[in-house]
Amino acid sequence: MLSKVISAVCLTLWVSHCAVSAAEDPFMTKALKLMSETPLIDGHNDLPWQLRKQFNNQLNVVDLNTLNTTHTNIPKIKQGKLGAQFWSAYVPCDTQYKDAVRQTLEQIDVVHRMCEKYPDNFMFATSAQDIRTAFSQNKTASLIGVEGGHSIDSSLGTLRTMYQLGVRYLTLTHSCNTPWADNWLVDEGSDPSEHNGLSQFGKQVVMEMNRLGMLIDLAHVTVKVMNQVLDMSEAPVIFSHSSAYSICKHARNVPSPKIVNVPLEKTTKIFTFEKLKSREKKGIVMVNFYNDYVTCSKTANISDVADHFDHIKKVAGADIIGFGGDYDGVTRLPEGLEDVSKVPNVVAELLRRGWTDEEVNAALGNNLLRVFTDAEEVRDKLTNKKPDDVPIPYAEVNKNSCRTSHGYPDDVTGAASSLSTLALQLTLALQGLLLLSAL
Ligand SMILES: *[C@@H]1O[C@H](CO)[C@@H](O)[C@H](O)[C@H]1NC(C)=O
Ligand SMILES: *[C@@H]1O[C@H](CO)[C@@H](O)[C@H](O)[C@H]1NC(C)=O
Ligand SMILES: *[C@@H]1O[C@H](CO)[C@@H](O)[C@H](O)[C@H]1NC(C)=O
Ligand SMILES: [Zn+2]
Repeated sequence: MLSKVISAVCLTLWVSHCAVSAAEDPFMTKALKLMSETPLIDGHNDLPWQLRKQFNNQLNVVDLNTLNTTHTNIPKIKQGKLGAQFWSAYVPCDTQYKDAVRQTLEQIDVVHRMCEKYPDNFMFATSAQDIRTAFSQNKTASLIGVEGGHSIDSSLGTLRTMYQLGVRYLTLTHSCNTPWADNWLVDEGSDPSEHNGLSQFGKQVVMEMNRLGMLIDLAHVTVKVMNQVLDMSEAPVIFSHSSAYSICKHARNVPSPKIVNVPLEKTTKIFTFEKLKSREKKGIVMVNFYNDYVTCSKTANISDVADHFDHIKKVAGADIIGFGGDYDGVTRLPEGLEDVSKVPNVVAELLRRGWTDEEVNAALGNNLLRVFTDAEEVRDKLTNKKPDDVPIPYAEVNKNSCRTSHGYPDDVTGAASSLSTLALQLTLALQGLLLLSAL
């Protein structure tokens, strides 16, 4: 009898709990309304990498309407109201000095093909205006970010070509140093510092990205690189998928002034949030949902993720925050955020914590739109600036035995070609002599 009463009570509780957590949660209702007015713009999703890993990019054998081995598919995108996505053209660091450029081009290609295959769901996008247009057509604006400077093989020509192919951000490093920039593992102590931040060529890359209107992504770089770029870039920068270091002390997260005394930085050059905030053109930190960056442990929940949003809002204001879930790039996601369909849960939680509509809309998409528009304005201002055609010094890339040196005056190939020029001149001279003697 007692047990019957208890189960009746439990059933009632369970039913009412269900009802509340579903459509009747006023915060969820509000979240979905805001998301139908302002596009959710996510900074980083690795679905293209899953397409390579699981299908070797054979999109013809994949149906994104039913794919169930990824965090991302079309029904989940619809449910999660994903307005715009920077799809990651990521290839691992083991391609550096090998076929990184080819593999990156293939990742760019697969995003283009995905948009062509599902034209009702995706619109390829390369500008802030494109994002608005796609959103008004109920399509997910699909942008490309290249994750890792190794993908350009130390070549400004390759960088420019990737821009032409639609790439709109470059993460300066992934988890390896390039010949011109240090990665976050240097701060962690597991990689050596090779450039004390950016080399001279690294600075050229940054300035050329400003000229092109390609966003500079500081996820994955050292704190030194973050601060160098914050000091020199004319355009605002992004962290496409990083969280707050104060909440979880992981070197992939963004440091703030409050943590001056932690061992990681040791110095005063860590005012990243302050710089992001104080510049007239503010940047953006797009919060990563990976458990390991959210709680520094294997488990996390929605509340833990919201703590990062709250913290960044507190130290720098709601206008430098965004979403950068890292779906399909990570192995562990918070309870309640298991795939892209669940993102509205975070939005509802922020509303529950008292975020205003304006603050929520800023984080959803308005901040990224502002940053992107500012970067486009810097590009338009710099139209008279010539493309930078000064190549990286050969000595800085000659550790790569696959790399030839055509075009460099002071190298083996160059020397060989001067030898053959000399030989040609000798031949001509000899012929001249013979001709003379014949006369
Ligand atoms: C996932 O999709 C495959 C192929 O469409 C199907 O056979 C399988 O049952 C699905 N798995 C789940 C858990 O839905
Ligand atoms: C987009 O979706 C909304 C809501 O479902 C609908 O009212 C609107 O007509 C749609 N717009 C287009 C261009 O399909
Ligand atoms: C989320 O996890 C934290 C521990 O990280 C815990 O204190 C909190 O109660 C959890 N919140 C919810 C809503 O489950
Ligand atoms: Zn990453």
